[in-house]
Parts: sequence; C-alpha cells; structure tokens
Amino acid sequence: MENKRQPANSDYIVIKAIEDGVNVIGLTRGTDTRFHHSEKLDKGEVMIAQFTEHTSAVKVRGKAKILTSYGEIESEKK
Ligand code: TRP
Repeated sequence: MENKRQPANSDYIVIKAIEDGVNVIGLTRGTDTRFHHSEKLDKGEVMIAQFTEHTSAVKVRGKAKILTSYGEIESEKK
C-alpha cells in the first residue's frame, strides 16, 4: 500500500535552539526547490524532524545545535 507520508529515510534530525528566534526552514523535494515550512524556535526549544517525500533539505537560521547521524554541528548567528 502506498503511504503518501513516507519519510525519505527513517533517520531523524534534532535541532535545539541556543538563542531565541531560530528558524528551521523546510525546502521542497523535486525540480522546484523552495521554502514550504518555517518553524520558529525559542531558546531551549527542540525540533525533531525527518526528511520526507516533501522535504529534501532543511535550512537553519540562527544559533542552534544540530544532531544528525553524521554527527553534531552548530549553526552560528550572522
Ligand atoms: N509537511 C512536511 C513534510 O512532511 C513537514 C516536515 C517534515 C518538515 N520534515 C520537515 C518541515 C523539516 C520543516 C523541516 O515534509
């Protein structure tokens, strides 16, 4: 049975905001790459997300800790 909400893989990424107003932006999968979702996190808030058939990339703006299966990285404030 086809599941329309199938993740692209089963991995999750974790984003923890280190400052207020961190934006987690989801970008569309396919030929058209555009923002489709923006989530604002305040300091200490955590978002747990997957890559799905709708989401091929995630952009993080602001200071945050990002955990993936590849390791841990920090985004910085501009
Ligand atoms: N509706 C989106 C999707 O299923 C929700 C989503 C999944 C999302 N992963 C994300 C939004 C990462 C922002 C960032 O693809």
